[in-house]
Amino acid sequence: VIESISERLDDFQTVAASSHTLKLYERFQDRIASHQTLNRTLVSFQANKAAAYYGWFRYKEGFSHALVGYLLRQLANKPGILLDPFVGSGVALFAAQEMGWQTHGIEILPVGVATMQARMLGQTVDAAAFVTAMQAILAIPDFDPYFDVAYAFRHIAITKGAFPPAEERQLVGYQAYCHRQIGDVPVRQLLLFAALCVLEDISYTRKDGQYLRWDARSGRAQGSKPFNKGYIPPFRQAIAAKLHQMANDLAPVAAQPRLFSDDAPTISTAPMPVIMQGSSLDILPNLASNSFDAIITSPPYANRYDYTRTYALELAFLRNTSEAVKALRQSLLSCTVENKSKEQALRNSYADQGQLAQFTTINQIFHSQVALHEVLGQIERLRQAGGLNNANVVRMLHNYFYEMTFIIFEMARVLKPGGSIAMVNDNVRYGGTEIPVDLLLCAIAETCGLHVRHIWTLERGKGNSSQQMGQHGRSELRKCVYVWQKVTDGDA
Ligand SMILES: C[S@@+](CC[C@H](N)C(=O)[O-])C[C@H]1O[C@@H](n2cnc3c(N)ncnc32)[C@H](O)[C@@H]1O
Repeated sequence: VIESISERLDDFQTVAASSHTLKLYERFQDRIASHQTLNRTLVSFQANKAAAYYGWFRYKEGFSHALVGYLLRQLANKPGILLDPFVGSGVALFAAQEMGWQTHGIEILPVGVATMQARMLGQTVDAAAFVTAMQAILAIPDFDPYFDVAYAFRHIAITKGAFPPAEERQLVGYQAYCHRQIGDVPVRQLLLFAALCVLEDISYTRKDGQYLRWDARSGRAQGSKPFNKGYIPPFRQAIAAKLHQMANDLAPVAAQPRLFSDDAPTISTAPMPVIMQGSSLDILPNLASNSFDAIITSPPYANRYDYTRTYALELAFLRNTSEAVKALRQSLLSCTVENKSKEQALRNSYADQGQLAQFTTINQIFHSQVALHEVLGQIERLRQAGGLNNANVVRMLHNYFYEMTFIIFEMARVLKPGGSIAMVNDNVRYGGTEIPVDLLLCAIAETCGLHVRHIWTLERGKGNSSQQMGQHGRSELRKCVYVWQKVTDGDA
């Protein structure tokens, strides 16, 4: 299944052939292999669309449940305790739970947390009551009479004008109806979650590439090529389809005929996932050492992707104010040019817990990464030469690797000896210079007591952002799954 990749170093388009980076490549070369089972579809959310539950909310950064199944079979020979510190919509947790694992996830974005909560409600809700409520809703021709300003959409600056006004009134009327008329709390929560799931569909926006794109019909200023997202369904049509889909997954018999999915949900006897809402940078240090058998995760990539902008509609729907969204943006693992340093906050938080020595150790690990500092130096020189289109990319990359050092150190600490980590991540390119994120994170992992077993590269097929493609053609960046294993005393 696995074949060695080309040994030609000229295939290795990384931050020039600089000495320390080259040495790193040579060190890991025997473990870098293209993996034909792991293709981009398996790793991306696409493969979830038809599966029960996973298709409710399209969390486009998610990986597939099939990937989690595959990785768990590679990492462990029996179910144990799993952690995902960047759990998103919870794919790792639910896929592992179906395989009998006890699962724990950390997520900072309320949208991911709401998605996981809905999924858990789905496992316990009275499905017949949901179907009855749905049928009553489907019989309502117009939600406008239920409109109540108490449930009005609280727009933030970046969501204003996102919906056709009449459809926004339908949305609000539907919410008011659910709050007033549905007494069964889990059923009501699922009905409201259904509304969250259709926000993008009924809006003038589309989650596209790295940004939220706005349709010209919104009246927002457009670039040289006005964007048209195509047919925008009315709220009533979109919610009806979503409710059918959910009912179909919850109660396949009651909701006959099966309308959307051929995959019957799997019933698991493993306990419900444990979800911790907040930043992994704060939560991981409080988890007990040697307590997890495996970690499967995909952190944000160092690609300037801003989750708070992509999910602005859903965040506003969940009653987050502009200030809350800005604060959230700063708390996310640094991957946008707006992120400021968290060094002082991390120092304070470790100190408050009497763990200043641990902070110092992690800080030293970061500063001891010669290849990393060589790469960061090169990017800084590129900035000085005017080669970056945003000067803050330098700070972003520094902060990304700084924070990832804390994450990797803490993941290694909480893992049981012999336990494994599988991490999905992409390399990135700025000003034509590839940042070998895979090699740099693997080097940090080794310093933290993890053995790098594999760097599986996925089938190629994707460049970086469209702006960069224009300038640098279609040269491709490595997208990888790294497999690390915590060394045991016997290995030392
Ligand atoms: C690539 S996505 C993971 C998607 C996930 N694998 C799934 O299948 O849904 C990265 C996630 O990390 C979350 N995140 C970013 N910074 C975080 C932090 N400091 N602590 C916890 N989660 C964070 C983002 O909100 C996002 O959901």
